[in-house]
Amino acid sequence: MEQKINSIAEEVKSFSIASKETLENFRLKFISKKGMVPSLFDELKQATADEKKKVGKLLNDLKQLAEAKFKSAQEELENAPSETATNIDLSLPVVPNKLGNQHPLSLTRYRIVEVFERLGFSLADGPEIEDDEHNFTALNFPLNHPAREMQDTFFVEKNPDILLRTHTSNVQIRLMKKQKPPIRAIMPGRVFRNEAISARAHCFFHQVEGLYVDKNVGFADLKQTLYHFAQEMYGKDIKIRYRPSFFPFTEPSAEIDISCLICKGKGCNICKHSGWVEIAGSGMVHPNVLRNCGIDPEEYTGFAFGMGIERVTQLLFQVNDLRLYSENDIRFLKQFKPVV
Ligand code: PHE
Repeated sequence: MEQKINSIAEEVKSFSIASKETLENFRLKFISKKGMVPSLFDELKQATADEKKKVGKLLNDLKQLAEAKFKSAQEELENAPSETATNIDLSLPVVPNKLGNQHPLSLTRYRIVEVFERLGFSLADGPEIEDDEHNFTALNFPLNHPAREMQDTFFVEKNPDILLRTHTSNVQIRLMKKQKPPIRAIMPGRVFRNEAISARAHCFFHQVEGLYVDKNVGFADLKQTLYHFAQEMYGKDIKIRYRPSFFPFTEPSAEIDISCLICKGKGCNICKHSGWVEIAGSGMVHPNVLRNCGIDPEEYTGFAFGMGIERVTQLLFQVNDLRLYSENDIRFLKQFKPVV
């Protein structure tokens, strides 16, 4: 009898109840008056006293097991929504689709472009996969310039003439070769450098290139234009400074710093305790670059700058880890709303 009880217990356990129909089958088979469990109790009546003692408990456990299974399956089926639901309110408004967010870098890019468009700059674009000529040679990089080294630049193995652009300055060349001055253009885009990824560096980032070539464009125009930009972006109280620098494609060249907005110039981690943050490289377009593009440097002059969008964003939103921009974590991305 013991064996029989055990095998019925197994059957109870493995019986699958998926509908009201199978629930009824379960009830009939195991717990109804003529079911297996009550008939085992009948059998028990005829057993010897000894045996009653031995299997009585087993049998009670089996009864409880079957009843508990029946009850929980019954509850589950009753709570499950019925297939022919008649209680759906069709007049309720639909659940709205979740819309994505504009990426913080896009928000900044729009704002940068907007400021320059108001000054009469037009928008231009160029390829991310570039050749040596447009990324380096026409920009007056000497053949052995360190920026051309493998450590900095992603070259394509099969064709060393092809690379991922290391800056947006390639678009300057493409524009000047195609278009005669006056040229006033703003060129946002993604650039690539072979750097180890950390909070402060990434193998790709974003820049906005600016170019203004015309008769009588001077360094004062560069200074005033970027000062105006900084004020539009960060408010009238922003301070700006130019530090002498070197780029092969500009002469003279300057790094542009703005006063740190995070600590108001007092010194913090973001500005490396200097009170200033570098946001762009700039300078007067080198006569060789104009010449390489068929523009006469005796007739025309120009200024150019290359601004890091991540930097400008960092100061707007106080983000201090570059990696956040490309991890696509929705909790980070959904915090940004257009700043009006
Ligand atoms: N291309 C330079 C860089 O990536 C920035 C720059 C642009 C400097 C234009 C001068 C003029 O660092």
